[in-house]
This record gives sequence, C-alpha cells and structure tokens, in this order.
Amino acid sequence: MTITITITMTMTITDRARRREGFGMSSDETALLLDDVHSGYGRMSILKGIRLEVKRGEIVALIGANGAGKSTTVNTISGLVRCRQGRILFLGEDITTLPAARRVSRGLVQVPEGRKLFSDLTVLENLEMGSFLRRDRAAVKADLAHVFELFPVLPERRRQLAGSLSGGEQQMCAIARGLMARPNVLLLDEPSLGLAPLLVQQIFGIIRTLNATGTTIFLVEQNANAALRLAHRGYVMETGVLTHAATAPELLADEKVREAYLGK
Ligand SMILES: Nc1ncnc2c1ncn2[C@@H]1O[C@H](COP(=O)(O)OP(=O)(O)OP(=O)(O)O)[C@@H](O)[C@H]1O
Ligand SMILES: [Mg+2]
Repeated sequence: MTITITITMTMTITDRARRREGFGMSSDETALLLDDVHSGYGRMSILKGIRLEVKRGEIVALIGANGAGKSTTVNTISGLVRCRQGRILFLGEDITTLPAARRVSRGLVQVPEGRKLFSDLTVLENLEMGSFLRRDRAAVKADLAHVFELFPVLPERRRQLAGSLSGGEQQMCAIARGLMARPNVLLLDEPSLGLAPLLVQQIFGIIRTLNATGTTIFLVEQNANAALRLAHRGYVMETGVLTHAATAPELLADEKVREAYLGK
C-alpha cells in the first residue's frame, strides 16, 4: 500500500490527543459515518448498503466470518475500494469520492490486514514512509520518539529489515507506521492475526492506550471475543450486510452472536 501523508500540524500525537474533546472517552460527535454504502469488485457486489457510525473517542469493532466483507469495508472507508452508492462522512465532511491519499492527510489512516510492511526496508525506513509527505519535521521527530516509547522493541530494531521481524514485531511496526501519519481515526484490520495469545494481549493493550490518549479506533477482528472486550460498540457483518449493531457488552451477551462468533 502506498502511504501518502501531508499533515502539517505541529503538535505531537499526545499533545494533540490531549486537546481533543472527550479525551479518553467517547463523545456524541460523529467521527465516521457510512450511510447506505455499496461497493465491490468488477461485477461482484460485496457491500450491500452498510450503515455504520463511529463516534469521536470510541473503539468500534466489526466482526464476522471469513469473506463477510470486513476488509472490503475498511478498504472502502480508506478509499482503496470505490464506494459505488451511498456516502462516507469523515469529521463532518463528505469524503465519498476523495482520493485515498487525501483521506490519509486528513487523519483517516489504515493499518492493513497482513501488515503490508516494506519488507526490504528497515524498521526506521518503514516508519519514515508513514510520515512521507509531512513537512512538519520537528513534529515528525517528536512522533517518532513517541512511537519508540510506545513500542520499545522498535528502537532496538530500527536498522533491521522489516521482513526479518517476528510476526508480533511486524504488527507493532505496522501500527507504528500508521501512527506516524497522525491519525484522528485509526482503521485496524485484523491486528491480532497470527499472533500468540500473549502478543494479542499486548497489541490490544496498546490499542486501549491509543484510544485513552484520544485516537478513535475502528477495529476489524476475527478474534471477536477479544475485540468486543476492548470495544465500546460493535457491528456484526454477514455477506456484505450488517446483522447486529449494539454495545459491546450487549453483543457479548447475545446468544446468537455467542453461538456464531464467540465459540460458546
Ligand atoms: N480484490 C478482490 N477482487 C475480487 N474479489 C475480492 C477482492 N477482495 C476481496 N474479494 C472478495 O470479497 C469478499 C469479501 O472479502 P473481504 O476480504 O472483504 O472479507 P473479510 O471479511 O475481510 O474476510 P477475512 O476474515 O478472511 O479477512 C470475498 O468473497 C472475497 O473473495
Ligand atoms: Mg479481511
């Protein structure tokens, strides 16, 4: 995935986060709204009228089986897949036809499924790709120090090729690269994929910290139990339509959701 970033604000991630309304909590303000969104590939229609909202300060989880259309949803939000019908609003603006790179520059940042790191580049070079088009060099430096604090394994490995990192380290590097773009809303597609339970806990702990310091999170996960324990609200997707929308505790207690997705 090409990362293109043109954010020019000068505060550090944390400074900016602290100034946001509803610091560490959800608010009533809509950060992201999908209104009757349709998308697909070629003649194939995948998303068939999605209505989904993420409020500023929330963690919202999207769960569903393999092939349900979760990544297609994320890719449609980020602009990698075209929205064919309906609207996408981000921080009150209609971004339905805005090119992907300009969505990134507004703070709508995706960490793709399968990490998609530049494997022949070093950890540091990957992180620099995250801030590629930013001109606020001082703030970029501060943000790099911040992500190194958040992921202490990364400074130790800064000169190592990303392709030679372990799976967990790669996921950390991918999230860190996303953070270097200064997200308002971070779209995380399967951050726990292929990771051992302890690492899943660690990654989810970091997502909680990011949210507590002001980043709104849209989290796609097959690990529905873990995702719903972390999220404020959740949606369930089945073959391109949303079948449930509720608070995370409600979904965790819903018998049908438990049977189908929570393994009990
Ligand atoms: N680039 C593509 N071209 C054609 N079809 C695609 C493409 N990407 C995904 N699909 C199809 O769209 C449907 C939804 O796929 P998607 O990747 O969104 O599912 P998902 O819910 O993310 O699944 P998983 O849990 O396995 O990641 C699937 O039937 C898939 O085969
Ligand atoms: Mg997927």
